[in-house]
Amino acid sequence: MTDRLRIVEVGLRDGLQNEPQILALTDKLRLIELLLNSGLQELEIASFVRPDRVPQMADSAQLMSRAQGTLRRPGDPVRFSALVPNLIGLEQALSCGTQQVAVFTAASEGFCQRNINCSVEQSYERFAPLLERARQHELPVRGYLSCIHRCPYDGRTPLRAVVDGVQRLLELGCFEVSLGDTLGTCTPFEAKVILGELARQFDTTKLALHFHATYGQALANLHVGLELGYRVMDSAIAGLGGCPYAKGASGNVATEDVVYMLNGSGLECGIELDTLLHATDFICRTLQRAPHSAVGKARIGAYA
Ligand code: HMG
Ligand code: MG
Repeated sequence: MTDRLRIVEVGLRDGLQNEPQILALTDKLRLIELLLNSGLQELEIASFVRPDRVPQMADSAQLMSRAQGTLRRPGDPVRFSALVPNLIGLEQALSCGTQQVAVFTAASEGFCQRNINCSVEQSYERFAPLLERARQHELPVRGYLSCIHRCPYDGRTPLRAVVDGVQRLLELGCFEVSLGDTLGTCTPFEAKVILGELARQFDTTKLALHFHATYGQALANLHVGLELGYRVMDSAIAGLGGCPYAKGASGNVATEDVVYMLNGSGLECGIELDTLLHATDFICRTLQRAPHSAVGKARIGAYA
């Protein structure tokens, strides 16, 4: 088991997609720069979905090419990724030089329908040619499985639907599946059951933890995952975020809270907390609101 941990920063996508205010392109670029300064190397910054459905992501192509062109140095291990729901999205991602994409589906029908307008089964049918095309371009594809604990429309998700979803995404060729507690309702006791079963059935190096923080359980759930051998975590700077199709769900677990928690754990994530807090400070000033992170509140105060 490795002592190295990967943190995938999703604030620019999962975070900003749910902010009422649409951030200017220059502010997004500045935020990426500050995040990179802290040592983060994997950033999901864009989403090639319908701009009428998620207007906050409408500048994705421009942002991706500007980020690739101005913020990456040659030989840089930094990876900028984007969500793609279908082949249309994939073509857009390819045309602006995206280095990695992520497909997204759910372990529950209700959310899948509202979010991407198709059934769970249809989502896999859509992904098959997408992954084939991505393979031709040697583009790594991540998979998201939402609602591993609860669905806002169907209630509690059966564990077997989660196992099936992970299996399907891995069989399709996703290099990793990110497990979404989309509503942020899961408790550590339930996380132990879900993540424990997945760890028994799959290689944890192919799984990532994507916990939203609505009910304040996300850090505890990540700790459960760490104990079970999971080593990849998604988080968002300042705890930004949510999903427009999961009403009431708040942001992802905050990156600064995760980095703080990892201090003293013996696990290395390569991120410098004090530098990271410049990014928290910047985004909270820009959006004129307090951070949704305990560490942000303790260290840099409120702006709202
Ligand atoms: P659809 O309406 O079913 O697509 O959308 P369609 O194939 O029927 O096409 C209808 C029109 O949309 C056509 O245009 C297409 O060209 C266009 P028209 O001919 O009418 O002018 N179109 C597109 N335009 C731009 N980009 C595209 C695209 N595809 C079709 N990719 C679609 C299906 C999935 C695109 C739509 O439902 C959509 O955009 N949904 C938004 C989903 C979303 O962004 N949700 C939030 C992210 S997921 C999330 O946050 C969860 C996660 O964080 C994990 C977790 O927390 O659990 C990942
Ligand atoms: Mg999410």
